[in-house]
Amino acid sequence: MSSPDTKAAKLIRKCVIPAAGLGTRFLPATKAVPKEMLPIVDTPTLQYIVEEAVAAGIEDVVVINGRGKSAIEDHFDIGFELETTMRARGKTAEADKLRAIANLVRIISVRQKEPLGLGHAVLCAKSVIGHEPFGVLLGDDMIDAEEPGIGQLARVYQQHQKAVIALMEVPDSETHLYGIAAGRDIGNGVIQIDHVVEKPKKGTAPSNLAVIGRYVLPPSIFPILEKQTTGVGGEIQLTDGLATLQKTEGLLGYKFQGQRYDAGDKVGYLKANIAYALKRPDLRGGLLEYMREVVKTEKP
Ligand code: UTP
Repeated sequence: MSSPDTKAAKLIRKCVIPAAGLGTRFLPATKAVPKEMLPIVDTPTLQYIVEEAVAAGIEDVVVINGRGKSAIEDHFDIGFELETTMRARGKTAEADKLRAIANLVRIISVRQKEPLGLGHAVLCAKSVIGHEPFGVLLGDDMIDAEEPGIGQLARVYQQHQKAVIALMEVPDSETHLYGIAAGRDIGNGVIQIDHVVEKPKKGTAPSNLAVIGRYVLPPSIFPILEKQTTGVGGEIQLTDGLATLQKTEGLLGYKFQGQRYDAGDKVGYLKANIAYALKRPDLRGGLLEYMREVVKTEKP
């Protein structure tokens, strides 16, 4: 992934990646391993997301973790024994690749002791973020784009000096699964949001613009989240905090460019695996052959 304008994100030096959810939709795989560490082909979802942040010029990545914390920390650390063994076996290129992961960026690990909700997870980063705007990238939401998803939002933040969240059109039948935002189109894919609601009941959604897991937020979100009561699902919802922010300071949405995969959902996860495997010359031929066979033989 490369950014045509990484400078746009320079204003945003830090980001938060919440990865402390229970991942119940992926049990039993997530009993001991965080869902953000499940692989898309051969690389953990979380690594793609960290790479997106790095491509956008972000310098400090705060990962919010819960169970399975050591798998995340170990993945972004130097794997000394493994590397040494591989080098001794002449697998230098592979060992170099492992070292590159450890050198990607500064990762700061913060524990969310209880999975009290996404809003609470973001609040856990308060003292590390301090008094500057920051990005949020959900640890199970992938955006495959030429300009990194979070870099696109950073660019809009820089232009308008206002909190901005990623939006994507979804079918009316799916609006109850997302945070939904409505507002006025002010051009170039930017929406001046006047209403945002978490998982509206079927038939009550104010639009079909779903909130996707990328945000650029001002530090004023923290006192809002501190006062936030529990919302849908008994969790401290980030969307409820955004609704307050919209009323106090205003809130923008941005219809980002790129393909999004919900790797926290089984079908979304499988789609991401297929899409990323098809991009790999070593896998593409064999996979396509198998997929053609499946299409021919499987009944709908
Ligand atoms: P999800 O709602 O998709 O994650 O949160 P989950 O609760 O782990 O999923 P299921 O429904 O049980 O399978 C979106 C992101 O926010 C993080 C999750 O780890 C995920 O990356 N999250 C959620 C937290 O870090 N803390 C929380 O309390 C909740």
